[in-house]
Amino acid sequence: MTSKNTMNMEKKEFFAYEEAIDLVKKEVEGALTGSPAIIREYLTHLSLSQGKFIRAVSVITCAEDKEGNIHLNAVKIAGAIEILHLASLVHDDVMDNADLRRGKATLQKKYGKRTAVICGDYLLSLALKMLSVISNKKDYLELDLPDYIGKLCLGELNQHINNKNLNLSIFQYFKIISGKTAALFEASFYAGAVIAGCSEGETIKYRQIGNYIGMIFQLSDDCIDFDATVEEANKPVQSDYEQGVITLPLIHALQENKDFKEKAAHTEVTREEINEAVRKSGGLKFTRLVIQKYYNKAMGRIRELDDNSGKKARLVNILKKAARVV
Ligand code: IPE
Ligand code: IPE
Ligand code: MG
Ligand code: MG
Repeated sequence: MTSKNTMNMEKKEFFAYEEAIDLVKKEVEGALTGSPAIIREYLTHLSLSQGKFIRAVSVITCAEDKEGNIHLNAVKIAGAIEILHLASLVHDDVMDNADLRRGKATLQKKYGKRTAVICGDYLLSLALKMLSVISNKKDYLELDLPDYIGKLCLGELNQHINNKNLNLSIFQYFKIISGKTAALFEASFYAGAVIAGCSEGETIKYRQIGNYIGMIFQLSDDCIDFDATVEEANKPVQSDYEQGVITLPLIHALQENKDFKEKAAHTEVTREEINEAVRKSGGLKFTRLVIQKYYNKAMGRIRELDDNSGKKARLVNILKKAARVV
């Protein structure tokens, strides 16, 4: 039997921004803690720490219509995308042997890799279930969310195939991060634009902005591995190279300093040597220049949008968060 409260919520179709964000958080929390007894302990562990909800904020922000209203479907899709993102993190922590996520022990550390793999799969099923309840589903077919999930997986696989590849090119690196991270940001912006009822031309712009912001997000995250503390990041830092993950600051150092590359190819290099090579070559500066290029492109596209200044300001805020300037 449906309770009165649930009925009221289901009846209400449009929400203001803050209300919509609160509802997404509740949806995610409810999906995790309301899972079947056999898996509840693991998913409840995940619910003890929250992420930044930047993908949900992206969906909700983009979904705001000309009257400032956000449809319930945006809440459902944002919730599903956050659960999907969480599934990718649970699996990513297996791949990266990570022990800390959102300031807490990772599932793979606390319960083992086998449990984490199954929990990640289950989270994917939860995301699909959340999507299955949206109304007017055929309006969202063009979104092709499975294609975006596929891109994410192939990005992670491509990164894995290139583990410890000191010859990884900048082009290959862009392809990897475009799949593993930018795809889900693009999907979030795309979904929001479709829900807001944007024209085809506007929707293309939203997708591009999402893609640029996703690239910026991962480029910034790759700088964090070099220049943040564990306390700031709430996850392991100084760990990409140890796990064989080659990112742009290091690619730049390898390309600029052939002696260092020779040494890394033949011997174990220490963390200090890596940091020194990145520092000397200006690997972080170079990465930040790339971020700036994407930032300018995203900003240009946001300016072109046919939206009011309030919505544009909220989009700029997401862009700044991705670049970690706010
Ligand atoms: C982490 O994403 C994975 C990357 C793409 C770098 P977030 O930094 O958005 O993770 P949470 O959800 O806030 O923990
Ligand atoms: C995060 O990638 C996982 C996905 C994007 C699927 P990373 O391994 O680069 O990010 P963190 O540092 O674990 O969050
Ligand atoms: Mg990874
Ligand atoms: Mg990782």
